[in-house]
Amino acid sequence: MLSAAHSPVMTEEVVKALGPSEDSILVDATFGRGGHTRALLKYLGLKGRIYAMDRDPEACAIARDWAEGESRLTVIQAPFSKLSDELLRAGIGGQVSGIVLDLGVSSPQLDNAERGFSFMRDGPLDMRMDPSQGIPVQDWLADVSEEDLIGVLRRFGEERYARRIARGIVNARNETPLTTTGELSSLVDACVPTREPGKHPATRTFQALRLFINQELAELDAVLPQALDMLEPGGRLVIISFHSLEDRRVKRFFHDAAKGDPFPPDLPIRAKEISPVILRPSRPQRPSDGEISDNPRARSAILRWAQKSPSGQI
Ligand SMILES: C[S@@+](CC[C@H](N)C(=O)[O-])C[C@H]1O[C@@H](n2cnc3c(N)ncnc32)[C@H](O)[C@@H]1O
Repeated sequence: MLSAAHSPVMTEEVVKALGPSEDSILVDATFGRGGHTRALLKYLGLKGRIYAMDRDPEACAIARDWAEGESRLTVIQAPFSKLSDELLRAGIGGQVSGIVLDLGVSSPQLDNAERGFSFMRDGPLDMRMDPSQGIPVQDWLADVSEEDLIGVLRRFGEERYARRIARGIVNARNETPLTTTGELSSLVDACVPTREPGKHPATRTFQALRLFINQELAELDAVLPQALDMLEPGGRLVIISFHSLEDRRVKRFFHDAAKGDPFPPDLPIRAKEISPVILRPSRPQRPSDGEISDNPRARSAILRWAQKSPSGQI
């Protein structure tokens, strides 16, 4: 089944930050179910364009159906780490007015048990956003060493019980292969000695495995400089993160880009002559209480945006 809804997060804030005009060229690099694209299209005239990107074939199938009746929409199925290649191929490198990245997974990905993302629904232990690339989590767990597993749980899940969980997984899989999300979540539940209020004990383990198997932090590191490069002078980049591992990277990236290139201190250049890549980035923005009560998935969202310097230097 392809459809199923996704309630877009912080849509008003995304539109305000991007400030679209009638002939803007925009990129929604995480199309999902197109909630942000839909809101942005309302501001575009006949010459405006949205390039919708996603690595998930189901998301792209929906976008393509839509694009058949919407000439302002172009669909690109690719990981956003290929943003520059794809936009250069489309002939819009350096001409993009705004780019939005709404990170992580969509509700349809979580809700479809067959995708294997959720500890709430029993399904095959897969978790790939693009099931034609890489390997499913169950194949990785079948071979991984205990030490490597501990590293992934710590690095991508900030899991304090990484050692116990990794040992539990390795012992179990040495008996019988782990093939379902239900088996993994019960196993983690049994390994974790304490409970965080309001949080399923397998939350961090599932987050860690998902981030690792989809290389989500490496994707983010790769897309940030490309996104600035693809913007026109004065263009805007908006990013919504859902946990501190992502938000820290975005914050640091914007901070560095706003400082400009570090020149050796002995060069005869004054600070005001160093042209920063972006103007001062926005403060972090959070969803309103109203949005969080309508859409609990929004509660951990953090939006940051920045404008490429009008001088266009990079
Ligand atoms: C939170 S959802 C976006 C929801 C979307 N803004 C909407 O309103 O429907 C994130 C989407 O980004 C896609 N995605 C995540 N990482 C990606 C990557 N590295 N490259 C391309 N797409 C990615 C996922 O497949 C998912 O469809």
